Amino acid sequence: MLALRVEKRFAESAKRELLEKGAFARGFNALRDERFVFFPALKRVRISARHSFVQRKFASIETPKPLKKLLPYAASSYDLVGNIAIVEIPPSQHSKRKKIAGTLLRSNKRIKTVLAKASVRKGKFRLKEYAWLAGERKTLALHKESGCVFRVDLARAYFSPRLSSERLRIASMAKNGEKVLVLFSGVSPFDIVIAKRKRVLTRGVELNPAAVRLAKENIVLNKLEGKSQAYCGDAKAYAKKFGGWADRILMPSPTLAHDFLGVVAAKARKGCVIHYYDTGGENEGIFKSALGEIRNACVAQKRKFRVLGKRKVLPYAPRVFTIAIDFKLLN
Ligand SMILES: C[S@@+](CC[C@H](N)C(=O)[O-])C[C@H]1O[C@@H](n2cnc3c(N)ncnc32)[C@H](O)[C@@H]1O
Repeated sequence: MLALRVEKRFAESAKRELLEKGAFARGFNALRDERFVFFPALKRVRISARHSFVQRKFASIETPKPLKKLLPYAASSYDLVGNIAIVEIPPSQHSKRKKIAGTLLRSNKRIKTVLAKASVRKGKFRLKEYAWLAGERKTLALHKESGCVFRVDLARAYFSPRLSSERLRIASMAKNGEKVLVLFSGVSPFDIVIAKRKRVLTRGVELNPAAVRLAKENIVLNKLEGKSQAYCGDAKAYAKKFGGWADRILMPSPTLAHDFLGVVAAKARKGCVIHYYDTGGENEGIFKSALGEIRNACVAQKRKFRVLGKRKVLPYAPRVFTIAIDFKLLN
């Protein structure tokens, strides 16, 4: 059967991309050798990490029956941050939540804690509340992604493992020698994935002091002290300070970035590439409003721009997506 072959360090993001592209063949055990992981694939698709397609024989697996029975709405789907599993349990299944958590804990040896989402993201730090369900009572985890390691505290700082392929996509666009400014940098996963893969300097700006403390630890953990720095403060002030320094500016906050386009358009240098994030509804032409925001900000600053690419990143709400628009300032 068709198999996607990818280096072990990219396994998690590769699997996520295969799933996103509807190309992951469920019901089979992945295979491993010393260097590579092989995922069962339904079709050939392009993913961000270096990969190839080969033929392999896979043994079929079944989601443990009790888990399938208890999680019928998403058969075994959950997020894994380090060894913490995060489940979303609909109100109709509320009475079974402890049972679901216990089954999950027993079904995967990697899982040490099971948390349930207890709120939507809220507040300026974009945090969620979680309810402890089973295992160790903790929100701190050590998460591995694309050959990097992140210390994460789910209760105190934003982190999403679902953005791993987006981080690799941006890292693949960055060029050696560049200076990269990351606004809304959180615990610095974008900065670190880019700096691990390219010869670049990165500066991350984040308002949440707890996230910046973790970002500083993460820079050390990934041995990037000479390349990456994390600052605590308002993205507007730092966009003014470093906007002209950067060859590439990331704005990875779909709910906030539009308020910061003005200052970025005013301060970024000619030739700067900007990765802008927003939300877009399928009904009204998914990129239309975001492109309008970019156009307005550039017109106000007499800047010309060229769109380099646009893509859906992740589902945000029913029929609404987090989207990314990459554009370059031409003057
Ligand atoms: C959606 S999260 C993204 C975090 C990070 N880019 C990531 O992908 O993990 C947005 C982040 O922006 C931060 N934030 C909110 N207002 C900010 C501001 N005015 N300046 C800088 N960061 C801000 C929040 O604390 C939060 O960590």
